[in-house]
Amino acid sequence: MTNTILPTVRLGNDGPAVGVQGLGCMGMSEFYGPTDTVEALATLDAALEAGVTLFDTADAYGSGHNEELIGPFVRANRDRVVLATKFALERRADDPTYRGIRNDPAYIRSAVDASLRRLGVDVIDVYYMHRRDPAVPLAESVGAMAELVAAGKVRHLGLSEVTGAELREAYAVHPIAALQSEWSVFARDVESSAVPAAAELGVAFVPYSPLGRGFLTGSFAAAEELAADDFRRSQPRFRGENAAANLALVEPIRKIAAARGATAAQVALAWVHQRAEVHGLTVVPIPGTRKRTRLAENTAAAALRLTAEELAALEPIAGQVAGDRYTDMTFTSAGRD
Ligand SMILES: NC(=O)c1ccc[n+]([C@@H]2O[C@H](COP(=O)([O-])OP(=O)(O)OC[C@H]3O[C@@H](n4cnc5c(N)ncnc54)[C@H](OP(=O)(O)O)[C@@H]3O)[C@@H](O)[C@H]2O)c1
Repeated sequence: MTNTILPTVRLGNDGPAVGVQGLGCMGMSEFYGPTDTVEALATLDAALEAGVTLFDTADAYGSGHNEELIGPFVRANRDRVVLATKFALERRADDPTYRGIRNDPAYIRSAVDASLRRLGVDVIDVYYMHRRDPAVPLAESVGAMAELVAAGKVRHLGLSEVTGAELREAYAVHPIAALQSEWSVFARDVESSAVPAAAELGVAFVPYSPLGRGFLTGSFAAAEELAADDFRRSQPRFRGENAAANLALVEPIRKIAAARGATAAQVALAWVHQRAEVHGLTVVPIPGTRKRTRLAENTAAAALRLTAEELAALEPIAGQVAGDRYTDMTFTSAGRD
């Protein structure tokens, strides 16, 4: 598949127009092994050139490093970049593995100021609640987020890993432009409640890890071959027997790719777009890459359409995946659905 400039879609009922594929910046700072920073920064520029406008980061990625890394790029292209960042995952300098979840209004107010400072911008285009703490009433958290819109610090609101019921409850407090949760050929639990609710409310869906954290592309076969600090080493579906079983499920994706002169990554991305059509909602997947070659490969997927037979061949995969998508599923929408 050759590259094309991406078409645009609207993020939610009153959100900005964005290229139909965004860029996940997380891996540039943490989680997926060592990064060549020069190449990663060049990838940001290449993305913008290809029509990618939604750039996704979070305060938690590298404990602030990722926001600082992309800040100069965002500022240099402020009128073209739709900047999305997130709060809620609390990190601790003395314990890199610690993850707390904070949804209380005081925390939200301080988190947004810290993100604005690290990014070096006056306003965030889409501000997500990264994870839900059920101990804090959702109306309180979304109310605090709405105050950030009124204060001009944030333009639009987003949520991540919430159920359909939680999305409806939040929307009643303030319009939500985007719901960001894991959605791929390999991870379809969101189709039970979150996706239908987003479709009904006109909320755009931003599928994260649309390449199954790289597994669907064949770039690794098992967690054991990854760097010692790679986050995927701890995730159930990439380990030991699970990984071996799941590798067989990637075969139909590879087969379709070979027959179409495409790559497995492109087939996985095309699947997300076409699955969203079935549900009648807008999607803007945010595959993560730190390399220009892969960026070009991924954006070219926007031109690939799978046939009904190809879609049927991919249909059983998610139901056969061995292992959960996180070690602790209570932090996901599926854990509360
Ligand atoms: N809201 C949340 O809770 C949440 C959770 C996870 C992620 N996210 C966001 O979603 C973004 C994307 O998710 P993700 O990065 O976890 O997973 P992903 O996009 O499914 O996969 C990323 C992995 O695939 C590799 N890759 C990318 N394109 C490829 C290609 N064409 N061929 C072979 N390998 C390829 C990348 O390596 P290289 O970088 O080396 O190319 C990286 O290791 C993140 O960057 C982050 O912004 C959000």
